[in-house]
Amino acid sequence: MATPDDMQGMQACNLCNLPENYNLKYYMYHLVTWPRLSYVAEDPKGRIVGYILGKMEEDPKDAPHGHVTSISVLRTYRRLGLAKRLMIQAQEAMADCYGADYVSLHVRKSNRAAIGLYRDTLGFQVSEVEKGYYADGEDAYGMRLVLHPSE
Ligand code: ACO
Repeated sequence: MATPDDMQGMQACNLCNLPENYNLKYYMYHLVTWPRLSYVAEDPKGRIVGYILGKMEEDPKDAPHGHVTSISVLRTYRRLGLAKRLMIQAQEAMADCYGADYVSLHVRKSNRAAIGLYRDTLGFQVSEVEKGYYADGEDAYGMRLVLHPSE
């Protein structure tokens, strides 16, 4: 589970990996509000090499559901199964701790690695295409996966 001490390492990892960046207050908001929904992967020296930042969407007009704000793994640590493990931990907590019916996320249409992770490994499906979702005008796939509480 990520703690406030991890925020700077998560932010550094995010800055290396993605153009969608956040200030520390936004990390803190996630960690304080939904402490079970953000996790980090560390190397043997305790340096953060991957993270997932998750939250709950609490719109009373929709079923309670989790949302993956951001996930990334440093390049030299990819294809080791870290992102899959981070996703599964967050998904389980969304269902078991917060009663989420499903988990949603946005991903760039061109992001083959992440789409492979979500669709092929975890079973997400595309729920919508959001035109011009990203700051540079690229479209996003909105993706969803139905969750079931663990036994
Ligand atoms: N090409 C195709 N499929 C891939 C790739 C790839 N480059 N990388 C992962 N996958 C799929 C595969 O099915 C893989 O299983 P396999 O290795 O048995 O074939 C499966 O995902 C699991 O891979 P992991 O090893 O768990 O994934 P990894 O730890 O390498 O992290 C991630 C994947 C997070 C997408 C990484 O490539 C990354 O950090 N990319 C840059 C940041 C990014 O794009 N983040 C997602 C943005 S969307 C969002 O945050 C909601």
